[in-house]
Amino acid sequence: MNQAARLDELPIWQDLLRHYEQARALHMRELFAEDPIRFERFSLQLDELLLDYSKNRVTDETLALLFGLARARGVPEWRDRMFAGEAINVSEGRAVLHVALRNRSGRPMHADGEDVMPPVLAVLAQMRAFVEAVHSGAWRGFAGDEITDVINIGIGGSHLGPEMVCEALKPYGHPRIRVHFVSNVDGTDIREALRAVQPESVLFVVASKTFTTQETLTNAHTAREWLLDYFGDEKAVARHFVAVSTNAEAVHAFGIDTANMFAFWDWVGGRYSLWSAIGLPIALYLGMDAFEDLLAGAHRMDEHFRGAPLEDNMPVVLALLGVWYINFFGAETHAILPYDQYLHRFPAYFQQGDMESNGKHVDREGRSVGWQTGPVVWGEPGTNGQHAFYQLIHQGTRLIPCDFIAPATSHNPVGAHHDILMSNFFAQSEALMRGRTLDEVRAELRGQGLAEEDIERLAPHKVMQGNRPSNSLLLYKITPHALGMLIALYEHKIFVQGVIWGIDSFDQWGVELGKQLAKAILPELSAQAPADRHDSSTNGLIEHYRRLRAG
Ligand code: F6P
Repeated sequence: MNQAARLDELPIWQDLLRHYEQARALHMRELFAEDPIRFERFSLQLDELLLDYSKNRVTDETLALLFGLARARGVPEWRDRMFAGEAINVSEGRAVLHVALRNRSGRPMHADGEDVMPPVLAVLAQMRAFVEAVHSGAWRGFAGDEITDVINIGIGGSHLGPEMVCEALKPYGHPRIRVHFVSNVDGTDIREALRAVQPESVLFVVASKTFTTQETLTNAHTAREWLLDYFGDEKAVARHFVAVSTNAEAVHAFGIDTANMFAFWDWVGGRYSLWSAIGLPIALYLGMDAFEDLLAGAHRMDEHFRGAPLEDNMPVVLALLGVWYINFFGAETHAILPYDQYLHRFPAYFQQGDMESNGKHVDREGRSVGWQTGPVVWGEPGTNGQHAFYQLIHQGTRLIPCDFIAPATSHNPVGAHHDILMSNFFAQSEALMRGRTLDEVRAELRGQGLAEEDIERLAPHKVMQGNRPSNSLLLYKITPHALGMLIALYEHKIFVQGVIWGIDSFDQWGVELGKQLAKAILPELSAQAPADRHDSSTNGLIEHYRRLRAG
């Protein structure tokens, strides 16, 4: 394991740089033409999940070098250290054990020398009992009504995962329960959510790992006041508020009975926490069995990640392909393009998952990295994106690696919709790979009867270089199990990339400065004294805001 060596000083890195000089000239059209079984050779299957990575600018040699890089950076060893509960989150001195939350194997897992499985299973049992009480009507609101609406109040990792999963698995939703998500401190978010519910039948889940996050506590206090305005009795809070946190003291200080608190632990990173009690809104919406199916799917991917040789290891393959484009081709972004409307929050979820994890400029030892780290992650569902930003992916000047994700079966099999959707799914990666040559364009235009002069004028605009890489992920159906596999796949991809780049993927210090400055500025907004503690731009903006607000 070569943890302390600089990535760009490794001989394998130099080999990759040299190889890149030849590989960059290769066109995937030719690679496919030369190798009729390229798909078979460059695809992997795990149960219902197929990963086709053949439409990438790689040869056997590229892959051999990339797997060599993974070995040189100690990917298997770091993976094992994560599963062993070592404090691989070095800047916070914490273990990274979200895999324990979905450990269905019966094996113990340790953090700080203690088996974490008994408390993990105890919280799952507490969640099950609570979910069943809400569903059966045994748990009722203060006035005796059944719960019909759950409002999750949380932000970042305490919001995006539950929201994404609830949207993705809507077809499995409980017929009586609606679930809402409030995250933004903009009063509009909580106001609109409160408009949609009744105080008698709403349950607030206040989700915050630290229970100190300004947005979440502000929204939770507003919700509490709204409830108390209606009931006029503090005792109502206990029937309508539960908390999910690692901070029992702060939960108690807020006024939520710690008997109504669901715990998790500091070895669960916020953006990896949907598997913990942070998943409570998922369980309330889908039922505990479906939540446990989600855990089981993730566990299936964990076992694959842990056990499969690097060459057959889906997260490793995805990670290395990303490194190839980011560090050698200079790709700045990565698009996640689900062809499933229910997965519409999946790109946003992994925007946090990836960018908060791998948006780092120093390595684990605190030295500046001399290479790019995490990409800008973005995306929208197909086919909407095709009519918005795909033009740039097809014909722009940038290289944008894409992941296309689709289920073979729709939850809503309406007429020909799904085949139409899927024909687009297949067409896009084909078009990106093949492109269209000048000769092909000319021939097509001639076929349409255009004059030679018009053909020459038009043809350059219609040429598509192709050779634009993509992965295709094809599933049978978006079930809780399949979604669990898919999420864990991306989590481990991010982990492997972090190991290659030598960074701590599990801290997020960059978010802190903005939080600190906002806290300092807040009292200045209502102060009388001139704003003069900042640069002239910030002072000027604060003064202008005060004038506008004063009317
Ligand atoms: O955005 C920064 C962050 O710390 C995330 O990592 C976390 O998911 C989010 O804030 C919310 O934090 P908490 O769950 O403690 O309220």
